[in-house]
Amino acid sequence: MAEQSKKWILMVTAQTPTNIAVIKYWGKRDENLILAINDSISVTLDPAHLCTTTTVAVSPSFQQDRMWLNKKEISLDGARYQNCLREIRARANDYEDEKKGIKISKNDWQNLHVHIDSYNNFPTAAGLASSAAGFACLVFSLAKLMNVQEDNGRLSAIARQGSGSACRSLFGGFVKWVMGKEEDGSDSIAVPLVDEKHWDELVIIIAVVSSRQKETSSTSGMRETVVTSALIEHRAKEVVPKRIIQMEEAIKNRDFPTFAQLTCSDSNQFHAVCMDTSPPIFYMNDTSHRQVVLTSGWILSCVVAYTFDAGPNAVLIARNRKAATLMLQRLLFHFPPNSDTDLDSYVIGDKSILKDAGIQDLNDVEALPPPPEIKDKVPAQKCKGEISYFICTRPGRGPVLLPDESQALLCLETGLPK
Ligand code: ADE
Repeated sequence: MAEQSKKWILMVTAQTPTNIAVIKYWGKRDENLILAINDSISVTLDPAHLCTTTTVAVSPSFQQDRMWLNKKEISLDGARYQNCLREIRARANDYEDEKKGIKISKNDWQNLHVHIDSYNNFPTAAGLASSAAGFACLVFSLAKLMNVQEDNGRLSAIARQGSGSACRSLFGGFVKWVMGKEEDGSDSIAVPLVDEKHWDELVIIIAVVSSRQKETSSTSGMRETVVTSALIEHRAKEVVPKRIIQMEEAIKNRDFPTFAQLTCSDSNQFHAVCMDTSPPIFYMNDTSHRQVVLTSGWILSCVVAYTFDAGPNAVLIARNRKAATLMLQRLLFHFPPNSDTDLDSYVIGDKSILKDAGIQDLNDVEALPPPPEIKDKVPAQKCKGEISYFICTRPGRGPVLLPDESQALLCLETGLPK
């Protein structure tokens, strides 16, 4: 390293979206490199509503690599963090800022320590794939800090080693994770299918289910499925390859009926292989099942699709705003909030759907008319308090740098959380 003051701190801040798979990833062929047994397809969610923000900093004054997640210091010892850090450092390049007196040569990066501060704008434990946005943001921001010249496809292969679904968060719109054939995972990367403007009529409503039950982690769940399920091989080899081709076509043609049928069927099959695991894994609960039943009329008329990840939350994708507005009214009728919850914190994200639905406060929720088919069964069909909150969102863009220093999570003078 050139002779220089030990005082400088170099910093980068980035924001990365999360994503939800419509053709699911479940099962690994390599646990350490995180290589999947089938391709998957996801939609990236608007980072205005669900995202990770990460600031990474480097300085000769830092004594060790450190990370803070949601304001608490965490260990970077795990293999997933170490793999990402090692792969990015191996691709780092020379960096110079004459004005600030900073000169870092390619090989210096191995000996310089980083500070990482990351924040998810949604509850990490809500089962909303926070590690997907988190590892995508970590890899993207470190790559920019260390002047890595590789494109987002190559970076996706590094993010994948942090969390499989993280590779798909390197792009906006609809994204395919190609499982690849190589043993070293070099061809197991994300590729963008269409950007977020291609199908911008879609509205996505996530029902975050109140759940006290501890779920099986995805990592151990998919390991147990691969070892014990008789159905998983049929799914990975026969079913998913065909669905991937059909789903790509449906997305390109904005063919909602085909998209919805494939999305719901793939979610169903994912939960079927979970139940085919020994011992069986149940991610959906009674509230999840009720959401499917309540939306089934719309699902049959091809205006709504549902998908459930490794948890009880329903992700409902509406064909357009009109369908989303009716769906939100229906959801609020059946799942009103607890009396101590205000509407502002019960429906978050894009609140304009609430406005379209003519709902301004909890009195409007109370006054929602019952759907005609349940007229006599109103009390039995109200499930107060079963949903923690709804998030209204849409397809969104990929990672971006936040150039404004005021958006950084670390202090430029100390390199510590602000
Ligand atoms: N896991 C959950 N959230 C994360 C984040 N923001 N960064 C890294 N790992 C995470």
